[in-house]
Amino acid sequence: MTLASAPGKAILLGEHAVVYGRPAIAVPVWEVAAQAEVLDDPGAPPGSFWLEAPAIELAGDLAALDPAHPLPRIVLDTLHAIGMEKPAPLRLCVTSTIPIASGLGSGAAVSVAIARALSQHLGVPLDPAQISALAFAVERIHHGTPSGIDNTVVAYGQPVYFCRDKPPAPFRVGAPLCLVLGDTGVPVSTSVAVGGVRERRRLHPVTYEARFDAIGALVEEGRERIEAGLPAELGNLMSRNHALLQEIGVSSAALDSLVQAALETGAWGAKLSGAGLGGTMLALAPPERQEAIGQALLRAGAVQILATQVGS
Ligand code: MEV
Repeated sequence: MTLASAPGKAILLGEHAVVYGRPAIAVPVWEVAAQAEVLDDPGAPPGSFWLEAPAIELAGDLAALDPAHPLPRIVLDTLHAIGMEKPAPLRLCVTSTIPIASGLGSGAAVSVAIARALSQHLGVPLDPAQISALAFAVERIHHGTPSGIDNTVVAYGQPVYFCRDKPPAPFRVGAPLCLVLGDTGVPVSTSVAVGGVRERRRLHPVTYEARFDAIGALVEEGRERIEAGLPAELGNLMSRNHALLQEIGVSSAALDSLVQAALETGAWGAKLSGAGLGGTMLALAPPERQEAIGQALLRAGAVQILATQVGS
């Protein structure tokens, strides 16, 4: 039996602009995870491969499932990548504690956990770059024009400075970052949010490119502040990033009121995280305010909160 897991993710700075070639910074969120378990199934007929994901009511033999569905797709792509299209009978079960469509990267985490568990079980373990590439191919089917940041941070499982089409650059976290994530409970469609930005950029290219440049500049400054261990200054950059995300039309009343509640409770900064329009926001908290900020987010309507720390 082989077990593998993959974390959720949050974007500290740079979402959406990253689709247009600007950098972004993302961190893994290990308090939630997708897990894949692979078992030999010696009693099953040759060629059988049972795939099960109870949370989405998917269960069946691989050959009978829709190959365009993300789960069969990542299984087929992984088997192809390791040159073992016809393994001995197997059972694969996927579970996840990452809320679906919440901006926490649940799709990427499920793909990564499956690719990792399956390749390890079959004795051809893939490295993070290979696993990330497999998960990216699945993201492209379902999210249109993803930048690749979600699959990258989830596959590497460490904070990354990411630029489209480049290997991620890990960086030093000079002082621990205490984050509080608040889920609006409103499902996010990444392709709708990204598609909306694409359309508005088509109509107003100069304005949108300028906003993307401004976001990219915040990311560069943010990386310096993280490395220098200056979280209060990083928080300020995050709040400025949220204002730019509002300007490109991907915030919402629910996200804005959680951001506001976090700031009023002493957060150094707060912003939406991920595609927006719903999903999750994140606040950077002074350590002694982390608990109070979580409570304030719940009072302001968050359906779930998560506290995490980046860097030791
Ligand atoms: C989604 O987590 C981040 C976006 O920038 C989309 C992407 O980069 O693919 C909104």
